[in-house]
Amino acid sequence: MLTIRSITRQDPLYAQECDLRERVLLREVGLDMSSFKVLFPDAEEKFEHFVAVFDHPSGPRVVGCALLLPNYPVPGRGKLMQMAVDPQRQGEGIGRRLVVAVERRAFGELGLGEIFCHARDVAYGFYERLGWDFDSEVFLEADAPHRRMTIRNPEAVTA
Ligand SMILES: CC(C)(COP(=O)(O)OP(=O)(O)OC[C@H]1O[C@@H](n2cnc3c(N)ncnc32)[C@H](O)[C@@H]1OP(=O)(O)O)[C@@H](O)C(=O)NCCC(=O)NCCS
Repeated sequence: MLTIRSITRQDPLYAQECDLRERVLLREVGLDMSSFKVLFPDAEEKFEHFVAVFDHPSGPRVVGCALLLPNYPVPGRGKLMQMAVDPQRQGEGIGRRLVVAVERRAFGELGLGEIFCHARDVAYGFYERLGWDFDSEVFLEADAPHRRMTIRNPEAVTA
């Protein structure tokens, strides 16, 4: 069975989350967890960590992750980062379940008005399928084309 869990850095699953981030996201752009922490100082402890956990007979396995940086860059906004699904489990709806969990937390309990991400070109379609909108032109980040994409809190009152 697959569950989406919110974990802290003290959780035993955190090491698996970091391993997944290195395998799917960081190594491809010449980074590891140490250099990521240098690039984003203080972020790791401010993130809310969401993991997709498969209950394997030999123990729980993290097969997806997504991080929420609440109230960034200003109060009321938030950033989704480090969205990754194990290559062997992509296309099964795991990424969607992770983003839904992040949105529920951001727009429900935290009451944020909007969350955004820096989407890689290969992932534009994923966020579009989930109802996110383009919010910038193409820019380079880690040498890859990206666009900022956003989704607004559906409950937010528009004046
Ligand atoms: C992008 C990623 C997180 C998607 O996760 P996933 O679990 O494979 O996606 P899901 O199965 O939940 O897909 C949800 C929907 O998005 C669509 N989709 C998924 N990836 C897509 C892509 N790259 N392009 C277009 N559509 C995509 C699916 O077809 C599905 O559509 P449906 O609801 O009509 O069936 C995953 O492929 C991944 O980790 N990729 C490598 C790392 C990466 O690029 N991360 C994003 C950095 S910004």
